[in-house]
Amino acid sequence: MKSLTNKLFLGIALVPLFFSANLGALEDTDTKQAIAVAEAIDAMVRSTRSMYTRTVVTKLKKDGKGAKQRSEILRGFVPLPAQFVRNVALHLENSPASEKFKIELRSNWNLNPEQGLQDNFEMAGWKYLMRQQDAAGGNLQGIKWDPYIKVEYQGEKQVLRYFSADTAVAQACAGCHNSWENRASVKKLRGEANMEPGKTFRLNELIGAVSISVALN
Ligand code: HEC
Repeated sequence: MKSLTNKLFLGIALVPLFFSANLGALEDTDTKQAIAVAEAIDAMVRSTRSMYTRTVVTKLKKDGKGAKQRSEILRGFVPLPAQFVRNVALHLENSPASEKFKIELRSNWNLNPEQGLQDNFEMAGWKYLMRQQDAAGGNLQGIKWDPYIKVEYQGEKQVLRYFSADTAVAQACAGCHNSWENRASVKKLRGEANMEPGKTFRLNELIGAVSISVALN
C-alpha cells in the first residue's frame, strides 16, 4: 500500500516536471529561432498564394478562363490556389530543403482526401484552433489566431511543428468551399467520416491550416 502511495505521489510530482520540460523546450534559443523560421515560411506561403490568386487566377478569369481543379486537361485554365501551394510543397519535398522543413495544407473539412489531419499533432492543433473560434462567440473577424506549436521527436530528429489557421479571408473562399460541400462526392466523404454533410463556411471562418515542420537538428 505504501509503495502504491509512493508511486502515486511520484507520478503526481512528475506531471509538472513533464509540462515544465515541454515549456522549457519551447523557450530555448534554437526553438525560438525555429519558430521565427516557421513564421517566415507561413507568411511566404500565404503571400505566394495570394499573389498567385491575384496576378494569375483573377487575370485569367477576366480573360474568360481561370482556375479549375482539373486544369491539366482544360485548355487555358490553371490549378486552384490550394493546388498551387501543394505543388510548391511537393517540389520542396524533392529538394535538399526537405531535410530542413516541410509545408502542407490541412483541414478537418478537406476536399482533397490527402489533406486531412494526419497525426496526433495535427488533430490537437485543429482542436486548439477550433477552441479559439468557439470562444469568439460569432465575432470571427476579431480573432487573433494563435498557432499551435510543439517540439517533437521523429526518430532521432527533433522537429518543431507549427499549425496556423487558414481562414475564409474572402467570400470567394467560403463560396467555393460551400459549393464543394454540396457535391454528392464530398457529402459521401463526410458521411463516411461521421461528419455532418453540407457544411457552410462563413466569412473569416476556419477552413483549414498551414502545417509546417522545421528540423531542429
Ligand atoms: C474556386 C474554388 C476554391 C476557392 C476560391 C478556394 N478554394 Fe480552397 N480548395 C478548393 C479545392 C477544390 C481544394 C482541394 C484542392 C486539391 O485537390 O488539392 C481546396 C483546398 C483547400 C485547403 C486544403 C484542404 C483541402 O480542402 O484539401 C485549404 C486549407 C483551403 N482550400 C483554403 C482556402 C482558402 C483560405 C481560400 C481563400 C483564400 C480558398 N481555399 C479558396 C477550392 C477552392
